[in-house]
Amino acid sequence: MAHAEATLPSMLKLLADPTRLRMLALLALEELSVGELSRALDMAQSRVSNHLRILREADLLRERHVGPSTHLRLATPGNGQAPLGRLWTALQPELDALPEHAADRARLDGLLAERRARDGDFFDRVAGEWDKIAGAFSTGRARLRAGVTLLPADTVVADLGCGTGYMAESLLGACSKLICVDRSEGMLEEATKRLAGRGPTEVEVRPGALDALPIEDGEVDGVVAGMVLHHLEEPFGAVHEMLRVLRPGGAAAVLELAPHKEAWMHRELGDRHLGLEPQDVLAAFRRAGFESIALESVDDRYQPPSASGDPVSLALYLVRGRKPRA
Ligand SMILES: C[S@@+](CC[C@H](N)C(=O)[O-])C[C@H]1O[C@@H](n2cnc3c(N)ncnc32)[C@H](O)[C@@H]1O
Repeated sequence: MAHAEATLPSMLKLLADPTRLRMLALLALEELSVGELSRALDMAQSRVSNHLRILREADLLRERHVGPSTHLRLATPGNGQAPLGRLWTALQPELDALPEHAADRARLDGLLAERRARDGDFFDRVAGEWDKIAGAFSTGRARLRAGVTLLPADTVVADLGCGTGYMAESLLGACSKLICVDRSEGMLEEATKRLAGRGPTEVEVRPGALDALPIEDGEVDGVVAGMVLHHLEEPFGAVHEMLRVLRPGGAAAVLELAPHKEAWMHRELGDRHLGLEPQDVLAAFRRAGFESIALESVDDRYQPPSASGDPVSLALYLVRGRKPRA
């Protein structure tokens, strides 16, 4: 029997039972499992289940299944518009006056306190293991996305040598416009596939070279070049171009590989230089006219799979600078 079809006598009969009224009063306050409800009412679970069946048939319960247990809450009948809903709205303030309600509330408070203590203990117990447990089902991308919404988002950023858009992806949502530049049409096609229709950031891909960027003077607020400069024959000319395309006060960040000896990377990964000296990148920033220049270590390693199968783990660093305002 759905509540919309309930007759007035059946509605009144439903609400005329003191046990059902006590149950409804508790479920209006808190979502409870059947076991918890029985404890709060100090009543055998079989008796509670019989009444629950009647309430369920009248569509008065919202149910949620967690593992083997069912959690119940009062569903406002017909959003309070149907006759049963109106009746319930009128009755609700009277429920506090039920003789057994004070004792029900006291038992409910006790079991909610137990539940809080148990939930607290649960996280204390699993804290050391949590990353392993949650690693399987958590998504870092969503968390990063939530975090970047807190940053000023009305900025235009250029990702220079964007490749397949791996780095640009982490900037989605963090800026209003993202200009992805690469000289490889194939890479730009892949970047477009990865970045298209992914959120509020406008993405524009532009074919072009780092030493003659397809970007107007002062067009962007920030430029990033990740793992790109060591691919250029003359890596440092690109730093002048970065300054040109930045608006006054705009910022540049270069992520680079520290010098290494993995000569196979020339052949296998198209690297022209086996890493770059951080001091050379810093000097290029100074020569170009950047200010507030900083060298930072990066808490990450570059671990390309080598042809020999030997593990390779290379150091990375970051150089940043700002275009003077005046
Ligand atoms: C190793 S990928 C880096 C991709 C991306 N930035 C990242 O962090 O994953 C290097 C990219 O730089 C591009 N590239 C190399 N030399 C370039 C140049 N002179 N001008 C523009 N793009 C260049 C390549 O086509 C390639 O897509």
